Amino acid sequence: EKGGYEHFMLKEIFEQPRSILDSMRGRMVAESDHLMMAGIREFENKFANASRIIIVACGTSWHAGLVAEYLIEDLARIPVEVEYASEFRYRNPIISERDIVIAISQSGETADTLAALELAKSKGATIFGICNVVGSSIARATDAGAYTHAGPEIGVASTKAFTAQVTVLTLIAMIIGSKRGTLETTKLRELMVELETIPAKVEEALKLNEQIIGISEQYKDATNFLYLGRGYNFPVALEGALKLKEISYIHAEGYPAAEMKHGPIALIDEQMPVVVIATKDSSYEKIVSNVQEVKARKGKVIAVVTEGDTTIPAMADHVIEIPETSEHLMPLLSVIPLQLLSYHIAVMRGCNVDQPRNLAKSVTVE
Ligand code: M6R
Repeated sequence: EKGGYEHFMLKEIFEQPRSILDSMRGRMVAESDHLMMAGIREFENKFANASRIIIVACGTSWHAGLVAEYLIEDLARIPVEVEYASEFRYRNPIISERDIVIAISQSGETADTLAALELAKSKGATIFGICNVVGSSIARATDAGAYTHAGPEIGVASTKAFTAQVTVLTLIAMIIGSKRGTLETTKLRELMVELETIPAKVEEALKLNEQIIGISEQYKDATNFLYLGRGYNFPVALEGALKLKEISYIHAEGYPAAEMKHGPIALIDEQMPVVVIATKDSSYEKIVSNVQEVKARKGKVIAVVTEGDTTIPAMADHVIEIPETSEHLMPLLSVIPLQLLSYHIAVMRGCNVDQPRNLAKSVTVE
């Protein structure tokens, strides 16, 4: 059942070229300009005219929501708020009939996410679900939705569900953007063509496994980790940190790289591994300075960079090279080495990676 892999988590990490492809299959064919999602079709006008999109989710699904905030605001120019379902539901939120509320949930059973959705529904918002489990409670409660086609995810740490969520959310952002005219046809085509190359590029990124085993060996005894990213890679930093803490029990924090100087920089010394996601994108120059700040304090930098980069490799202690892509799609690639890093560190520490202590696959209590 683990298909020859030692753990479900590793199997699921390696399934991502396929699960990403399955999540776009039939919904997008770049060469014929075909971009369509049955679940959105009826609601296209509602989406296009929405005054606001509110995303509710927990954990890793909330991180996928953060990526969607960047995507939807950039490509479709609709304001997006991303909310922890548990906070949203209890704070007497302002919701109107022109709002669209998107719930993201792998299991479709997360109690807080379901309750947040029901609250929004009772206030007249249109509610939309992005779930992986067909027929789950959240999928049934929504007006419409789109399934991620990741297949069953057994490992408690979410991996392939995250990349499937980001894939579906990218398609949604592209559909709304093209409907609203905020995403030009040439740009849309470019993105579609690029998205089609992602499964093969994820396959490339998975070849980093051996290199990451080596890095894991060196840092498996660390007691703290910092993860930094900016722009589209900021949610990836949060996700990398969550993955490490939940399965290896090492304390880790994700931060937007520029926030570091507002506090966490005080933590940096020669004992502190700092994972920096520094791919070539619009915030690249800025993150170069952040890496300098870490090095000036003798932190150990593990950098995820775009193939061919020479600036960051000249400063970092370890360099993990991933293929080039549009910054809009980068989280689908940059998260892969972070999943592998947390997996190997957890295995080396003797942790039960598929069923970490105190955690359940779906959190059906609030
Ligand atoms: O099933 P859901 O996507 O609603 O679950 C949300 C979180 O409980 C989940 O992502 C959790 O944070 C994972 N263990 C993260 O790996």
